[in-house]
Amino acid sequence: MTRTLSPGALMAAETAEQPAVWRRQLAEAGPGGASGLAEAAELVRRRAPRFVLLVARGTSDHAALYAKYLVEITLGLPVGLVSPSTYTAYGRRPDLRDVLMVAVSQSGGSPDLLRTLEVAKAGGALTVSVTNNAASALATTADAHVDVLAGPERAVAATKSYTAQLLALNLLFGGAGADALPDLGDAILARDAELAALAVRYRFAERMITTGRGYSYPTAREAALKLMETAYVSAQAFSGADLLHGPLALVEPRVPVLAVTSAGAGGQAFAPVLDALAERRADVVTVGSAARDVVLPETAEPLAPLLEILPFQLLARHVAVDRGGDPDAPRGLRKVTETL
Ligand code: M6R
Repeated sequence: MTRTLSPGALMAAETAEQPAVWRRQLAEAGPGGASGLAEAAELVRRRAPRFVLLVARGTSDHAALYAKYLVEITLGLPVGLVSPSTYTAYGRRPDLRDVLMVAVSQSGGSPDLLRTLEVAKAGGALTVSVTNNAASALATTADAHVDVLAGPERAVAATKSYTAQLLALNLLFGGAGADALPDLGDAILARDAELAALAVRYRFAERMITTGRGYSYPTAREAALKLMETAYVSAQAFSGADLLHGPLALVEPRVPVLAVTSAGAGGQAFAPVLDALAERRADVVTVGSAARDVVLPETAEPLAPLLEILPFQLLARHVAVDRGGDPDAPRGLRKVTETL
């Protein structure tokens, strides 16, 4: 007997699973653990790359952007985000000795990522893949693989695979102190009714802006993608710095702003952006540990993105369902699979 799920049921279940996924990842992060994290991290340490390239698409690209901030800020290594077309469409074959390439993909099946990784490997790069499918081509082609252990993700909109990627990348690059995260995550996810009430405010929004600075910028990007793909809101993400250099002109009462603001250096640097938005009497809701509206618990700055995205996942699902959509199966989209 086939059972019809209510709209957004899969996304709701996968969103709720996140703290359990993080617990699994933390338990399996040591030597011999199912994630392969310790071995991949050891290989990276031994090869001591002087430059890091990240490659990914969609939500995974936002996890890659997070890793760019993390590696630049905590390890002081230069990091670039690769456009696969440089290697696939334009056929460049660069010399990548001394380079670490990390490919991030839920499915491990995005074909342009695989091609990019192959070219990088042939060019001498050390290659690491971070996927949710240890049998995928990306996982088996890379020199080392990190399994994010999120379990099958069926909703088209990525949720648990995203935060699992963030945690895996954090641990790969030497992050620590994540043990308290799962309980904090459970506490945020228990506030679903608060986000359902906020969603009502955006029921008829056509356009929205999301913004954040430093570690919170990837959150703003991912929040915008969730709103676009599930609720069909034309949401544009800007780093706080970029917002002030032109796009601020877009801000008016019919264009609500969601601002991610967390404690730490990024949050402090974001203060002038909030002032500029207040000056324009923008319709702003702030989310994060330094927020006035959706206030989240404080954690170490590099770990904050794991918690910050949770309210946006809940919000996007509620806005989508309120508007009559089904966020599990957005129109015209399908999930990337290994077979693509
Ligand atoms: O499987 P991958 O992570 O390589 O897929 C990348 C994107 O197609 C994927 O993240 C897509 O953007 C999702 N719909 C995001 O929710």
